Amino acid sequence: MEKMCSEFRPEGKKPEPAIGYMLVEALPYIRKFEGKTFVIKYGGAAMKDEVLKNIFAENVTLLRKVGIKVVIVHGGGDAITKTSAKLGLETTFVHGKRVTDRQTIDVIQMTLAGKVNQDIVQLINEDGGNAVGVSGLDADMILAKPSPNAATLGLVGEVAEINTRYIDLLCDAGLIPVIAPIGYDMESNVYNINADDAAACIAVALRAEKLIYVSDVEGVRVGNRILKTICKADAAEFIEKGIITGGMIPKVVSAYQTLDGGVGKVHLVDGQITHSLLLEVFTNEGVGTQFVNEIENETIAEGAAS
Ligand SMILES: Nc1ncnc2c1ncn2[C@@H]1O[C@H](COP(=O)(O)OP(=O)(O)O)[C@@H](O)[C@H]1O
Ligand SMILES: [Mg+2]
Repeated sequence: MEKMCSEFRPEGKKPEPAIGYMLVEALPYIRKFEGKTFVIKYGGAAMKDEVLKNIFAENVTLLRKVGIKVVIVHGGGDAITKTSAKLGLETTFVHGKRVTDRQTIDVIQMTLAGKVNQDIVQLINEDGGNAVGVSGLDADMILAKPSPNAATLGLVGEVAEINTRYIDLLCDAGLIPVIAPIGYDMESNVYNINADDAAACIAVALRAEKLIYVSDVEGVRVGNRILKTICKADAAEFIEKGIITGGMIPKVVSAYQTLDGGVGKVHLVDGQITHSLLLEVFTNEGVGTQFVNEIENETIAEGAAS
């Protein structure tokens, strides 16, 4: 035979079906969630470490590509603290919320809506996710009101109203909105809004299927054990007893507001566990902690699974 330009398969080498089985395990979840909205609160270590940042970007891109409407609300506390320190401004927290004066709100606007937001957008877009960075000021998205603790916290706001028009527009165009949680009021004030609170209110306003907090803990911890499911009554008691403290308080409080607002599932997953987001959404076991109002038999049988 003349010299061939075709290629033979190596002898004895069989195709490996394992990856096929893994993808097929995801199929019922893809069918269930296609066209549904997931709000993802992005915070913790997964926002700092280069490898974890890239994995997060790949995970959200994949969710979007299988037809899930993904909306990201991000934190950025560390970057704000660092920029504040460079400018000689002190940082104080009360019950996990940042005390915010006029100078601090400028830093937050600059850092959060500027650098932090655009870095996330860029990473997702490198994976083909079509992310668009916005802040709560864009298209009147987050109308804020002063927090009841305004005397202590300053320009820390609560969500008064979410206008979903622009978010819907972006999602319907196949884009991923990446939202910096700052709000406006009718008196030209800009407010710092805890990203957990903002994500919760956005999830309710969008009638999202799920709200997922990506943080840097395996789940809600009690002593040295991680809860698979946490019910409302226990959560209140854990806060009361100081078992849940600091940045976990706004997460837990807003998780129950979200459930009461009609969102089906609220989860906390660890951004430090590789692909935790995909494991939570697409596998039977799930990861992290699921928030429920009451633990029912059915919930126990399902566990933290989607
Ligand atoms: N019971 C608890 N279980 C888990 N984490 C807790 C608990 N109580 C307090 N925390 C703290 O809450 C932190 C998460 O909140 P935060 O630092 O605001 O992160 P994020 O950037 O994800 O909002 C954890 O790193 C942990 O230090
Ligand atoms: Mg926080």
